[in-house]
Amino acid sequence: MQYDFDTILDRKHTNSEKWAVRDGELPMTTADMDFKTAPEIMDAMKQKIDQGAFGYEYPTPEYFQAVAAWYATEHHAAAETDWMRFATGVIPAITASVHHFSHEGDNVLLMEPVYNTFYNSIINSGRHVIASQQLYDHDQHTYHVDWYDLEDKLANPLTTLMILCNPHNPTGYVWTKDELIHILSLAKRHGVVVISDEIHGDLVLDGPDYTPTFSLPTEITANLITLVSTSKTFNLAALHSATGIVPNPILRERFDRAINKYEAAEPNLLAIPGAIAAYRHGGDWLHQLKKYVLGNRHYIADFLRQNLPDLHLVPGTATYLIWIDTSAVSDDSAKLAQFIREDTGLIINPGTYYHGNGAGFIRINIAYPRKQVEDAMQRLLKAIKDFKKK
Ligand SMILES: Cc1ncc(COP(=O)(O)O)c(C=O)c1O
Repeated sequence: MQYDFDTILDRKHTNSEKWAVRDGELPMTTADMDFKTAPEIMDAMKQKIDQGAFGYEYPTPEYFQAVAAWYATEHHAAAETDWMRFATGVIPAITASVHHFSHEGDNVLLMEPVYNTFYNSIINSGRHVIASQQLYDHDQHTYHVDWYDLEDKLANPLTTLMILCNPHNPTGYVWTKDELIHILSLAKRHGVVVISDEIHGDLVLDGPDYTPTFSLPTEITANLITLVSTSKTFNLAALHSATGIVPNPILRERFDRAINKYEAAEPNLLAIPGAIAAYRHGGDWLHQLKKYVLGNRHYIADFLRQNLPDLHLVPGTATYLIWIDTSAVSDDSAKLAQFIREDTGLIINPGTYYHGNGAGFIRINIAYPRKQVEDAMQRLLKAIKDFKKK
């Protein structure tokens, strides 16, 4: 079946957080997609609604089997269903883990620039962020791990936890298997628990697939909690459903206690049927979606090359978020983003949200029908020209 990614959805006044904007504005911010999810998933949810009785739910064995089958077929990665626990979202699982696996005043390690909500999970819990900066190559527009710095920060006795983003948001970088093994080995050597957020793992648009960390050799997964979800993959963020995959049985019991203690372990009425339908029947939709979003990425890369050569697209191969180096135009992306919005109504995320060297970058969500992407590029072109004239 051919799915439709071209129709523009009218999401204003639909309680969409992203679309709570002024008339004429085009928000390309929060990471949800402006596409309808797969009809197979909607059918499963409608059936559930039609039952009419909405009592307490639990994650069924079929749910965990669907997760395991998905990772086996989609990523050639084996996970036992016993390793899995249901959680009401990746962020709720991370926040519960921060509380449970570290103490007030401890350091939680991040690799900056990185997804902004991690900071809330850490700081709101009274922990400190300790950041290892990814090194930016200004010629290639690529990032690299600063291995000495990373190990130094892992070795700090106050560092008890690390949150890894695999693949990385906002750069779209897909960590190689060797890099993951190295990161996990270093963390293990220094007794640091690693939470690997793999919410974008199904969205590798091009090139080699990502490596699900739970599938790595057991010697290095002893300290590992992997978090996966249908949320980004199938545009089901509001479903509040995620899975923790923890190969080490002792750590798994502790994770289980964490998500139960912080009430992040019970599914809502649509989470289980929606996620099962997604994993069982959403594959074709996802594969077509990835081609479409890759087409958007290519379109934008060409557009920038031809019209805005001062802007450089960081060459990530995953996620529907693009990370653009705007440092030749402004060293303050918060101001730049505000100008772009006021000048043209295009709303994008300033890189400052993601810390690190984000002041020289903007992030744009490109999971939109092509016509809206074209519209966004015209607005960006006008805004950058006007900004330079200031
Ligand atoms: C890296 C990353 N983790 C987690 C989330 C949110 O996860 P959830 O909605 O399951 O809490 C996002 C959403 O943008 C994300 O990009």
